[in-house]
Amino acid sequence: MSQRMAAGARPRLLLIGSNGQVGWELRRTLACLGDVVAASLEGECGPVIDLMNADSLARLVKDTEPDAIINAAAYTAVDKAEKDLETARRINADALGELGALAAQSGVPVIHYSTDFVFSGTLGRAYTENDTPDPLNVYGETKLGGERALLESGAKALIFRTSWVYGARGANFLLTMRRLFQEREELRVVDDQIGSPTWSRMLAEVTAQVLYRVMRGDLDLDQVGGLYHLTGSGEVSWYGFARAILEASGSPAKLIPIPSSEYQAPAKRPMFSVLNNRRFQETFGLSMPDWRVSLADCLEELKC
Ligand SMILES: NC(=O)c1ccc[n+]([C@@H]2O[C@H](COP(=O)([O-])OP(=O)(O)OC[C@H]3O[C@@H](n4cnc5c(N)ncnc54)[C@H](OP(=O)(O)O)[C@@H]3O)[C@@H](O)[C@H]2O)c1
Repeated sequence: MSQRMAAGARPRLLLIGSNGQVGWELRRTLACLGDVVAASLEGECGPVIDLMNADSLARLVKDTEPDAIINAAAYTAVDKAEKDLETARRINADALGELGALAAQSGVPVIHYSTDFVFSGTLGRAYTENDTPDPLNVYGETKLGGERALLESGAKALIFRTSWVYGARGANFLLTMRRLFQEREELRVVDDQIGSPTWSRMLAEVTAQVLYRVMRGDLDLDQVGGLYHLTGSGEVSWYGFARAILEASGSPAKLIPIPSSEYQAPAKRPMFSVLNNRRFQETFGLSMPDWRVSLADCLEELKC
């Protein structure tokens, strides 16, 4: 515990990537746990941080003197990453080693997010944390590099592997579908890739609950630190997800299921990347709602 916290002050929580879909939710949710320093690339609501630049990160951590660091920043442009390996590796992998080293020096806990795309999707059952990663694309490869760099840094860290993140803000499947339902009469959506949609709000809520216990000293990251799968419950194809969004929207647009072979994209995607959340549930006593429940809640919010 820092001197500041020992003196009764609120913890200072350094949130990196505070303007992304998960980061934006975390900015609100973490506010009841402590003073959130909301760092982002553009510096909209706090200090500027560019993970491309190791000095920028070191300066931020030194100036902030955080009690915990939550990293929601990443290079998430999956297709673009195929031709931009160096940038993706710098942000998703190298920066995590640097962040881990800084956190280890000061004994500060780190929470970080990774992805189902560390897996190829060929296993035929939900992946556990013990399954060997075998990414199909540059994004997955660099995110895996980040997991390893953080775990090897000696920092007290929690890494939550999540999947198919959507929410009321940011670039995501839900908002894209809603826009396309307005613009087009007919839409073709891949029906043979299966995963678990995860609402960014739920991810932020669960993160806050776990972090609360870490900050109180109820959870010792020397015991429970490491990798966890954390996604919405249940599974569905992109087509099935689109269908649920369409039904709720009342749009007359027509949806047509197609195989992945008919959807050309630069990056290969896993066919079945459902993540088994049991380790997370057993360790923290928390679980995410079924994806349909979260989708309904998120759509309700979009009506406002
Ligand atoms: N989205 C998904 O479906 C999904 C699935 C599995 C795992 N994840 C993981 O979940 C976490 C959160 O993802 P998300 O969906 O919230 O992503 P997001 O909306 O794309 O947000 C990522 C944030 O990172 C920031 N960023 C990019 N380059 C940066 C740099 N050089 N320095 C500092 N910040 C930088 C972006 O800034 P700008 O806004 O200025 O570009 C953006 O705000 C990530 O670790 C991601 O890999 C996401």
